[in-house]
Amino acid sequence: MPDSRVPRLRRFLVCEPRHFAVQYSINPWMHPDTPVDVDLAQDQWQELIRAYRDHGHTVETVEPVAALPDMVFAANCALVLGGRVLGSLFHAPERRAESTAYDAWFENAGYEVYRAESVCEGEGDLIPTGRFLLAGTGFRTTREAHRQAQEFFGVPVISLQLVDPRFYHLDTALFVLDDGPDGNIAYYPEAFSPGSRAVLARLYPDAVIATRDDAMAFGLNSVSDGRHVFISPRAKDLADQLARQGYVPVPVDLSEFQKAGGGIKCVTQEIRS
Ligand code: ARG
Repeated sequence: MPDSRVPRLRRFLVCEPRHFAVQYSINPWMHPDTPVDVDLAQDQWQELIRAYRDHGHTVETVEPVAALPDMVFAANCALVLGGRVLGSLFHAPERRAESTAYDAWFENAGYEVYRAESVCEGEGDLIPTGRFLLAGTGFRTTREAHRQAQEFFGVPVISLQLVDPRFYHLDTALFVLDDGPDGNIAYYPEAFSPGSRAVLARLYPDAVIATRDDAMAFGLNSVSDGRHVFISPRAKDLADQLARQGYVPVPVDLSEFQKAGGGIKCVTQEIRS
């Protein structure tokens, strides 16, 4: 274990939850009858943004659109790697129009957006580790999109089969602790098929293994800068494990967003130039 873990400063894109709501159900967490406290959601989100900025990260914002309550989940809009943008093709018709708003932001920022040809939900299912692109499938992003991502980025894609509908996006079950060539990950094994579990164990023998309680608290939907881990305060065991390994947990509670099946990583898109 390194004496001192070194953070790498990030550039994030986020979307203010002004129009956040649960109006339809496209994952098991979403119950349109359960009210969302929009003011509380705003406060929780502002606290996350403050925490990112306090730790030196750059945060940019895209203007929210009133009819798109899930647009706050910026991670799903694209994968940006090496300055190349693979724009999403959302599974749910309710979310498809988000692409127009996000594409406009990228084009305005000087990026060309390539559209996925098959369902692909950006960083929700495509997670760069430094050596590979870990790619989830089973509920949203397709294997065809994995193939396109490999061709487009020229990074080896490792396809992983998700099996539990509560962990419908890869970023609800796994996150990258540090994305250097020898980087490590944390994950919840039961979210994966036996074969995919074996692949993860082979690639990451020293991975941090989360409990079901950690996963249910959205503890795997965390953002790490290589040193600080922005994590749900309800994922206690996981935070303790990370602290023992030299990481610094920064607790931020996005409980209101969990009503839509989202957390810290879901609301955060990383722009890797
Ligand atoms: N309600 C959204 C959906 O089901 C939540 C997206 C969460 N995003 C994520 N990166 N896991 O599509």
